[in-house]
Amino acid sequence: MSHPRERFRRAVITGASSGIGEAFARALAASGSDLLLVARREDRLQALCRSLSQAHGVRAEAVRADLARRDEVERLAEALAAQRDVDLLVNNAGFGILGGFCSADYGRQLDMVEVHDVAAMRLCRAVLPNMQENRRGAIVNMASIAAFIPMPKNAVYCASKAFLVAFSRVLALEAHRFGVRVQALCPGFTRSEFHDEPSLSRTAQRLVPSFLWMSAEAVVRESLDLLDRDRVVCIPGRLNRWMVLLANTPLGRRARQLAADREMLRDG
Ligand SMILES: NC(=O)c1ccc[n+]([C@@H]2O[C@H](COP(=O)([O-])OP(=O)(O)OC[C@H]3O[C@@H](n4cnc5c(N)ncnc54)[C@H](OP(=O)(O)O)[C@@H]3O)[C@@H](O)[C@H]2O)c1
Repeated sequence: MSHPRERFRRAVITGASSGIGEAFARALAASGSDLLLVARREDRLQALCRSLSQAHGVRAEAVRADLARRDEVERLAEALAAQRDVDLLVNNAGFGILGGFCSADYGRQLDMVEVHDVAAMRLCRAVLPNMQENRRGAIVNMASIAAFIPMPKNAVYCASKAFLVAFSRVLALEAHRFGVRVQALCPGFTRSEFHDEPSLSRTAQRLVPSFLWMSAEAVVRESLDLLDRDRVVCIPGRLNRWMVLLANTPLGRRARQLAADREMLRDG
């Protein structure tokens, strides 16, 4: 896409210490946006801030926060609510764990709901009132194609991402009259540290052919392009859009059940 990209004054990106969040930071800094980057690995955030400030002359600030902890989310939310110039929020932080619903670690499942859904909700509430008053701004909530394709051993992941799609659709309806846009970004398999988690990387390598993988940069490009065109659900990559359609046909549902039975059998 060749049209000039919108320049945001100040973008807040969670989960910016690697992968898709880092790619958002690089793309937005290149278009001249000041940044506030959030994650737990502060050393990585600081290094990224330094290099983006030097390369693009933008102001970039790192904030360490564990978004599974409500007190830390609250502190961040209060700080953001007091800053009136935030005109883009990317709720990107997230992680995966693989395991049957009853055998996976329950604490990690709860953390996942906190990071994907509760923290994203709280940060939206922090920035939206100012965006609506300023009559400009945008929010990108990081969902996944898993929101549309139930995947065995991913019950809480799929459900927490489906929450973000439904949530973003309603927010978009409510925020439209203020000129504020909301996107649910739903990538498929994307190269990043997400798949370094041992159980995930084994499955991904076994099941996912190389042509289905996208780069984090390509995902971010499609997200920002579609944001310009005011579309709520963004599924980057034509193959991913086909996969969502096919998975929800009767044949696709049958194939998914067979695969799920085989996958669950493997673990006894
Ligand atoms: N990769 C894929 O195939 C894929 C596909 C669809 C959707 N997604 C979604 O894309 C988002 C980004 O993932 P990625 O692929 O870029 O993976 P990644 O490289 O592992 O990045 C995940 C980011 O989330 C941050 N994070 C995780 N837990 C956190 C916590 N408790 N508090 C604060 N930050 C936390 C990590 O930072 P720290 O560890 O430094 O805290 C890191 O910056 C996730 O929401 C994921 O579900 C990924």
